[in-house]
Amino acid sequence: MTPEAATPLDVSRLRTLLAGKRLGMPLEYRETTASTNDDAAALGRQGVPEGTTVIADAQTRGRGRRSRTWVSPPNKNLYVSVLLRPPIAPWLAPQLAIVAGLGALQAVRKWLPGAVLKWPNDVLVGVRKLCGVLTEMTTRDEDAVDFVVVGIGINVNATEEDFPPELRSIATSLRVELGRTVDREAVAADLLEELGREYDRYLASGFSAVRARWEAACGTLGRTVEVDTSSERFTGVAIGLSDAGHLRVRRADNQEEVEVVSGDIVLEQSTPTLR
Ligand code: BTN
Repeated sequence: MTPEAATPLDVSRLRTLLAGKRLGMPLEYRETTASTNDDAAALGRQGVPEGTTVIADAQTRGRGRRSRTWVSPPNKNLYVSVLLRPPIAPWLAPQLAIVAGLGALQAVRKWLPGAVLKWPNDVLVGVRKLCGVLTEMTTRDEDAVDFVVVGIGINVNATEEDFPPELRSIATSLRVELGRTVDREAVAADLLEELGREYDRYLASGFSAVRARWEAACGTLGRTVEVDTSSERFTGVAIGLSDAGHLRVRRADNQEEVEVVSGDIVLEQSTPTLR
């Protein structure tokens, strides 16, 4: 395959694809920025409406969950942050991470129908991560959310060489999986459409409708996992989601059911490959 030159996003085409959609407008484009999540939060503090979206062709300080770096080379992938103003209490914000993960999965599945979710909102192909979601909330007071920034990174046209060596066995892209370059504007439009669809479903029908679909798309439930939180590591069986969007795990040591609020899930080596 001849490698094609990576070109900047065609923003006017993207705006056309987004016309009339629930999310994605107003659209702010950055050639390079530190982090689209920071840009969206700054706009949120200025009072911009729900749906405002920041998209960049490169990030110099792309962030992942748990203070990790999100590798953000220029003109290859999607770095998108959407501002939402959900009428929910702050303690329910983890539900939005689940909603966002499901929206991202639906978009990725248009190209890769076998993609699955891993809690809280990674999109995987096999055991390799293709997409990550970072939701960050700003509250008005202790009872009300001001806004939530949903930041999504999708590896679209990155090649294996674009990932640092330590990530090459655990990260992938649409291009790596499909063996051809993929239309980034189309993926961005699908992402915003699916995100809008899941968000509307959540607002209209509540979390239970989203939860059931998330659980059906999760490749980890019913399997033995290692849970890594900031305070401990333990083994157990992933059971499902709690009402708040946390992961329910039955601990192997005492059979107690616990809720994992934040952390990482690692599949036990002894279980079959995640698919
Ligand atoms: C993760 O899986 O750890 C979450 C990764 C989220 C990356 C996206 S890229 C767009 C937005 N801007 C950031 O700095 N992070 C998110």
